[in-house]
Amino acid sequence: MSSQNFNFFSLTIQKIDRTESGARIVRLAVRDRFSKKRYTLQRWALVLFSNGLTLYLKTKPDMPADAPNNYARYMLRLTPAMRAWAQHMPGGFATYYVHNPDRRRIDNNKRLDLITKALFQHSYDGRGIRARAHTMTWFLSKNLVDQGRIRWVSVASGTGQPTFDASTAFVSPIDHLLIDSDQDALDFSQKLAEEYDKNEDTLRFENLNVIKDAQKMDEVIAEFNPNCLDAMGLFEYLTEDEIVALLRRLYAVLPVGGVMVFTNMRDTHPNLDVHKCAVAWPGVQERKWKFIEALILEAGVSSEELTILLPDDDVYGIYGLVKSQ
Ligand SMILES: C[S@@+](CC[C@H](N)C(=O)[O-])C[C@H]1O[C@@H](n2cnc3c(N)ncnc32)[C@H](O)[C@@H]1O
Repeated sequence: MSSQNFNFFSLTIQKIDRTESGARIVRLAVRDRFSKKRYTLQRWALVLFSNGLTLYLKTKPDMPADAPNNYARYMLRLTPAMRAWAQHMPGGFATYYVHNPDRRRIDNNKRLDLITKALFQHSYDGRGIRARAHTMTWFLSKNLVDQGRIRWVSVASGTGQPTFDASTAFVSPIDHLLIDSDQDALDFSQKLAEEYDKNEDTLRFENLNVIKDAQKMDEVIAEFNPNCLDAMGLFEYLTEDEIVALLRRLYAVLPVGGVMVFTNMRDTHPNLDVHKCAVAWPGVQERKWKFIEALILEAGVSSEELTILLPDDDVYGIYGLVKSQ
């Protein structure tokens, strides 16, 4: 087993295999600062709480998430900060707070109380969102070596936080193009970039719907000429046809040697009922890695170019491509 430590997380390869099609499949243990021993009690308390919610939801299998008598949804909105946070779903601000639960306040000045903080730190959703970002960082750091200047497009960038975090793992200079359909998130990422000492000249922002304005997206990305592309937390909101079409387009603009990473929630998420009916995160289509693998191959990517990355929390599948032809 090989381990690697980064500034804010560690990652250990547990097993490397090949799928039937020949793609590489890598199982990983991902740990960050909230996995440390001193959090054991909090993490267990959260597991017990989530198990309680799961048991309750199992007694009401047909209840819609927005039913007035959904007590699981109610329980998760007891604190003002959780209620304020829930308003951001499914936008980029929701993941922003989960990426860094050490923030003291939520945007409308509600204090991030201990319960809300513990939910962000230890729930499977929180762990999975950070693990997918850390896995992206690791994959890119392995495959973007010797590229000179990195030209990095982030599709559905949200606030840009996971991209900016990942960018700290590189010494090469980076130009960023951040694309999102939410202008507020893009405006915020412009401010956030200052925290990461990004030079204004190295940043570009585009307000685009990458499905509806696909042609415009192609032009903007082609002009930027990227060698690195991420699309995190987007595919679960798209249909299969949209995923294949988007992958085809993104793959087409990538040069040989270019690298791309994207994600989709898995059906193995240990608290899927809680995610859907208590957190009530809207519109997510979880998918098996085998299913996503088939979509990627359908989009014209060869199996030798594909690596399927599966963190041990089982929440997200992360899919990395290195273009070779
Ligand atoms: C869950 S957030 C993920 C943000 C960030 N990539 C991350 O990993 O934290 C999803 C983002 O996708 C954006 N989005 C959703 N559909 C989109 C579309 N069709 N075109 C562009 N952006 C889209 C939303 O505005 C939101 O900021």
